[in-house]
Amino acid sequence: MVNYKELGLVNTKEMFAKALKGGYAVPAFNFNNLEQLQAIVTAAATEKSPVILQVSKGARNYANGTILRYLGMAAVEYAKELGWEKPQIVLHLDHGDSFELCKDCIDNGFSSVMIDGSHLPYEENVALTKKVCDYAHKFDVTVEGELGVLAGVEDEVSADHHTYTNPEEVVDFATRTGCDSLAISIGTSHGAYKFTPEQCTRDPKTGKLVPPPLAFDVLEGVMKKFEKQGGFPIVLHGSSSVPEEYVEMCNTYGGKLPNAIGIPESELTKASKSAVCKINIDSDSRLAFTGAVRKHFAEHPDHFDPRQYCGDARKEMIKMYTHKIVNVLGSKGKAE
Ligand code: G3H
Ligand code: 13P
Ligand code: ZN
Repeated sequence: MVNYKELGLVNTKEMFAKALKGGYAVPAFNFNNLEQLQAIVTAAATEKSPVILQVSKGARNYANGTILRYLGMAAVEYAKELGWEKPQIVLHLDHGDSFELCKDCIDNGFSSVMIDGSHLPYEENVALTKKVCDYAHKFDVTVEGELGVLAGVEDEVSADHHTYTNPEEVVDFATRTGCDSLAISIGTSHGAYKFTPEQCTRDPKTGKLVPPPLAFDVLEGVMKKFEKQGGFPIVLHGSSSVPEEYVEMCNTYGGKLPNAIGIPESELTKASKSAVCKINIDSDSRLAFTGAVRKHFAEHPDHFDPRQYCGDARKEMIKMYTHKIVNVLGSKGKAE
């Protein structure tokens, strides 16, 4: 049993309370490898931004859960080495799909877990989320629950149509489960293809695809329900903006990502100023990494040292993470 506090990690409690009050969102970046972790910590430490390091089930399958856990633990020490005296870093399980997986993470140094029961019937979601909360809270680990289903593939859970969160359910869910934050569905989805071209309109000037707006009315409805209790931390999954720059970088150097489209940054900034305290970004890191590696290989066909092309990828990711912190989510300087 390793408690996260021994590792210098923090849970999301105070972090979200400050974000809720301060009108910004904490970035939650997924990582699967060393370079992503280094880039996230470098950006957060340089900008003194609170940060959530997320490990998905897929990441555990790819990189091994134990290795990722130790990388997460190393983040605090690395942040200090970079001059961040009091790092505010959360190690979080993304889309936990069982009590057992959440327990394993809680017992092994994670400071926060998500239990994703969004695909279950309501009462089953309540029961599973409560079971995880009851266990996690014994160790001061915070828990994210989810209500509403995101479009497309939600890990192994597929939904043919997205079901927005029903504001009528949120207070009952949060009260009965005891969860510390709630992921909701307002039109975001995972991956680099968030909308089909048919769902978009075309900007007559640029000819570019413009996605439909997020359902801010649903978010407002949710916030209204939590008003009496002084607000509640809301989480947005599927919040990559799929930067054109990286899609183009991929496509210019041999990639094929037609019609990749994400959430406009202006919408994410608007959400950050509301009760949305945590914004999940994974695909943008994948795009920055892949774009940089493709470019590197095209420009240096003789290179074969992974440090050369992964070094470029790391630089590009630092740029991307820094941009999110400084220009999109407003979390710069919130963890001095
Ligand atoms: O929620 C989805 C995240 O982007 C994690 O994706 O399951 O492929 O690691 P993954
Ligand atoms: P993106 O695919 O939009 O980056 O979403 C990531 C996410 O929600 C992780 O849980
Ligand atoms: Zn997600």
